[in-house]
Amino acid sequence: MSRRRALISGITGQDGSYLAELLLGKDYEVHGLVRRVALEDPSHRLRRIAGILDRITLHAGSLESFPSLYQMVRRVDPDECYHLAAQSFVSYSFDDEFSTLNTNINGTHYMLAAIHEAAPHCRFYFAGSSEMFGKVEETPQNERTRFHPRSAYGISKVAGFDLTRNYREAYGLHASIGILFNHESERRGFEFVTRKITAGVAAIASGAKSELRLGNLEARRDWGYAPEYVAAMWRMLQQDTPDDYVVSTGESHSVREFAELAFSLAGLDYRDHVAGDPLLYRPAEVDLLIGDPSKARSRLGWEPRTRFEDLVRRMVTADLETAGPTLKVTHV
Ligand code: NAP
Ligand code: GDD
Repeated sequence: MSRRRALISGITGQDGSYLAELLLGKDYEVHGLVRRVALEDPSHRLRRIAGILDRITLHAGSLESFPSLYQMVRRVDPDECYHLAAQSFVSYSFDDEFSTLNTNINGTHYMLAAIHEAAPHCRFYFAGSSEMFGKVEETPQNERTRFHPRSAYGISKVAGFDLTRNYREAYGLHASIGILFNHESERRGFEFVTRKITAGVAAIASGAKSELRLGNLEARRDWGYAPEYVAAMWRMLQQDTPDDYVVSTGESHSVREFAELAFSLAGLDYRDHVAGDPLLYRPAEVDLLIGDPSKARSRLGWEPRTRFEDLVRRMVTADLETAGPTLKVTHV
């Protein structure tokens, strides 16, 4: 039997890199969409997939160009397509609503249309987000909770959700949507609060910095571990029927709790180092996210394993190791 072929948009990102490794481990032929500039600066832009470059095939293309996506889908003829590429930083979506909406909405539409036209048998995954719940209408949030997005990013994901569901209903595409709550890892981008904190802790512990500026410390998130979340994506596409699933831990913690634990793991008190910065507050905040993953548990057999303390410990340990060989987490 020939190997199954998977196409991943956003393969250079946190989730894309873990997903590519997961699929290689299952003997898939893995293809990835990358921006042309990524190929010109591989040491930086391809760093998360550096260890698997000899086992995957990259295709330069643009999310802003339907013809480039159509040609790529025709060439690859994938069995499964994971559409992860997006402008994923909520804060930036306030600075540039236009490019966020353009990339995220049109990019998703073009991917769906390319699959529909060039590989209609292909199973499709759309990276939905708990940001779609925004100003939450119930707690915890599940697949039936109404959306109330609070940023251009959240709005773009609601549009992507509607587009994907409509391709499923109108054209019979096997298209599933993961409503993933925040998931973090040692590969998380430095702009997101968890990695900003753990990298900041390492910089302070090593003496390179003394202060970390943060915005809203009271926002609460349901933080899980990224490698487990990409496994849920794969499981969705193995189902006979496409559907939508919340993927979360069911636990919620504040940014303050994250900072307190991360600093204490390095033997530091966050109150000595964290400074509030009003410029880092968002014009509209998502105050509380906590997901109910019951459906993913019962239908997909998916279970979150890494809990909050373990997640923070992993991230702090990795950043301390990078900052200096003598830096280690302390026991708290
Ligand atoms: P990430 O690390 O920021 O990766 C985003 C990926 O999208 C990168 O590969 C990036 O490529 C690519 N991309 C961005 N703009 C692009 C463009 N204009 N053209 C082509 N590629 C573009 O994000 P992530 O954490 O892995 O998240 C993956 C997906 O899940 C995203 O859609 C995100 O919105 C969604 N999501 C994430 C979370 C989470 O907590 N991580 C939760 C819910 C949903 P470059 O490397 O070239 O920039
Ligand atoms: N980034 C950042 N930087 N956030 C801060 C800071 C700071 O200095 N200080 C406080 N925060 C707060 C934000 O206001 C927000 O309430 C919370 O920390 C989390 O921010 P991010 O880590 O940037 O993540 P996010 O929740 O906005 O978005 C992430 O999760 C979504 C799923 O809910 C991203 O991965 C999105 O792509 C994803 O869809």
